[in-house]
Amino acid sequence: MPSVAFSRVDVSARIPDGDVQVAGQLAARWALPDGSRIRLRAGGRRVGARLRVATGEAAAGAPLQLSRRVALKLRLPLPGCFLLRVSRREGRQRPVVSLGPVIGILTWTRAGECRRYLWAARELPGLVFAFTGRDVRWRTRTIRGFGLRGPVREFGSEAARARGRRGLWGLGPYPLPDVVYDRMVGGFGSGGARFLRCLRAHGCAVFNGRIGHKWRIHRQLLACRDLWPWLPPTRPLRTAADVIRLARKFGGVYLKPDAGFGGSGIVRVRRFGPGLFAITASGARTAIATAGGLRSLVARLRRRGRYLIQRELPLIRVRGKICDIRALVARDAAGLWHVAGMAARIGRRGSIASNLKQGGRPVPLERALSWARWRRRPAVEVVRDVQEIALKAARAVTRYAPSSGDLGIDLGLDRRGKVWLLEVNPKPGRRSFDAIGDERVRRRAYALPLEFARYLSGFGQPTALQPD
Ligand SMILES: Nc1ncnc2c1ncn2[C@@H]1O[C@H](COP(=O)(O)OP(=O)(O)O)[C@@H](O)[C@H]1O
Ligand SMILES: [Mg+2]
Repeated sequence: MPSVAFSRVDVSARIPDGDVQVAGQLAARWALPDGSRIRLRAGGRRVGARLRVATGEAAAGAPLQLSRRVALKLRLPLPGCFLLRVSRREGRQRPVVSLGPVIGILTWTRAGECRRYLWAARELPGLVFAFTGRDVRWRTRTIRGFGLRGPVREFGSEAARARGRRGLWGLGPYPLPDVVYDRMVGGFGSGGARFLRCLRAHGCAVFNGRIGHKWRIHRQLLACRDLWPWLPPTRPLRTAADVIRLARKFGGVYLKPDAGFGGSGIVRVRRFGPGLFAITASGARTAIATAGGLRSLVARLRRRGRYLIQRELPLIRVRGKICDIRALVARDAAGLWHVAGMAARIGRRGSIASNLKQGGRPVPLERALSWARWRRRPAVEVVRDVQEIALKAARAVTRYAPSSGDLGIDLGLDRRGKVWLLEVNPKPGRRSFDAIGDERVRRRAYALPLEFARYLSGFGQPTALQPD
């Protein structure tokens, strides 16, 4: 007998305080007779209740209905659609009925992107809400979270969707989640690490944590032989002599801060003439320097922290502007990686980096390929390479950071048509896909990590994703 059921769950004022009402079919499936004492669990909240099998007129409505008190104790905003699982532990008299998965999105703010995740979650079973580090009440195992509240959570109903569009966002109490999706983008210091440990100690599975800075990631990618052909030569920056040698050999090099992101702190050095080099920092104009100037540049950069040196790749240009590719990869409800979306990014005129933070703009990949001057290959071949490399890179990261749930892969396409793996980013934004993706891509970009959260929650796949 399948252990996980999928059901609508509602609250009803008709049901006596300590009771829950269960449809006959569900009670039979669980082998629980009328009057059984059970425990209900949602995330970190538990409450005892008496099970009543619905009969006659009462059987109309959701297969599982809670009394107001039970719903309140569980901190569940209802109605909703949940996966239900019964467990009976040896030595424990009462079977435990778990409702879930309860998924918390840990963010910095309630504005912006978290609403897109919550919107995508409306079609998934369980409860999804967003919260920040200040919202947890450890003693009561509750969170003052932010989510879609009210009828919009009724599975798939058109009327509910329309209501949701008008906005039923709100703050409210939620149970401590089964799974936490870490979207605290950027560093969060030792306080953040302690906070995550606390969540884990309270039984939350936290995913999508740190994967290290550029050099650590690069070394892990190198551990995967399959990726060697796609990785540009990269190493920690040590001396100006290295820069000179590699700039002479390749024509140019990129210097990147190990802990950098968004294209900041990057410097390009190109061979310019005998004993001369053209130096361009991201967001700045090009300056010409001698070997002496290069030495003081390297000394200055190294004082800022670790830097990497990478061969400059002859990437395709669109009207003279740098152009590269971002692939968003994410895991699904079975833990498998997928390419959720691909986009090209075209840098600002004169910029050495294509990042949106540096003024770059996203465009559909095929369109960028048709605009650029390069030794053309069929677009499908480039797309196939991008997908293959992105998935291989994601699997390589999973090997040392098993809790990774989504990653942003930066790839370059050179003018000879070869694809290169530039870097792997943790906690990727979806801005490119918000701008250019079609509806399906956008939905997947936000929904996949929540499906992966379900995988981690242990609720697994129900027999059929249709309400009982
Ligand atoms: N080796 C390289 N050759 C040519 N362009 C590069 C190279 N490395 C980076 N770039 C450009 O700079 C951008 C930022 O580099 P990246 O390694 O992704 O650092 P960040 O973490 O700051 O995004 C890339 O998206 C690409 O446009
Ligand atoms: Mg990047």
